[in-house]
Amino acid sequence: NSPTSTNITWHAGQVSPEARQANMGQRGATVWFTGLSGSGKSTVAVAVEKLLIEQGRHVYRLDGDNVRYGLCSNLGFSPEDRDENIRRIGEVAKLFADSGMICLCSFVSPYREARQLVRGLHESAEPKLSFLEAFVDVPVEVAESRDPKGLYKKARAGEIKDFTGISAPFEAPESPEIHLKTHEMPLEDSAAAVVEALKAHGVI
Ligand code: PPS
Repeated sequence: NSPTSTNITWHAGQVSPEARQANMGQRGATVWFTGLSGSGKSTVAVAVEKLLIEQGRHVYRLDGDNVRYGLCSNLGFSPEDRDENIRRIGEVAKLFADSGMICLCSFVSPYREARQLVRGLHESAEPKLSFLEAFVDVPVEVAESRDPKGLYKKARAGEIKDFTGISAPFEAPESPEIHLKTHEMPLEDSAAAVVEALKAHGVI
């Protein structure tokens, strides 16, 4: 991705990623939760954050609704705006991961290509940063029956346009590192599965 700005030069520091990791006692990584509204992305991320903090890990959470109050407050839900939303968050997550944090990101992120772009940002970093995609997979009927914010009701009534799962697409991940069916397993098991995946990928 070449920047639009001109006359800019990358300024290298004197601290290696290894030295930073040694101080942190962990490798940085991003866990990217993707799924329908109401699938349980934020609920699982909150539980994982708590587990990791209890284990003395350094972790930070980025969440759809919250980020849209600040960093992405000028973006809506058109395909272009969602792509820009995910691009910005992907860059922020990469910075967190590079700093040695485990960054838990919960975003609907319905487009495969946008998620792939974020994965690429991490995997092309030098040294490579771990990126784990966690598909929070529930049928739309389940998400709609939960409807914690009443958004499906509004979308059915035509009061929200481009609503994922109703009037906008969700492109399911093809080979996510983590696959969670939150309607078929207790929350603790979902959270534990994410922690196990972080271990399996050598992050913690
Ligand atoms: S995206 O697609 O990744 O850019 O979306 P995200 O930043 O995660 O924001 C999703 C939250 O915004 C609310 N909301 C909508 N979701 C989907 N489609 C439409 N049209 C929409 N309008 C508002 C909703 O509360 C989402 O939060 P979650 O936590 O997923 O329910």
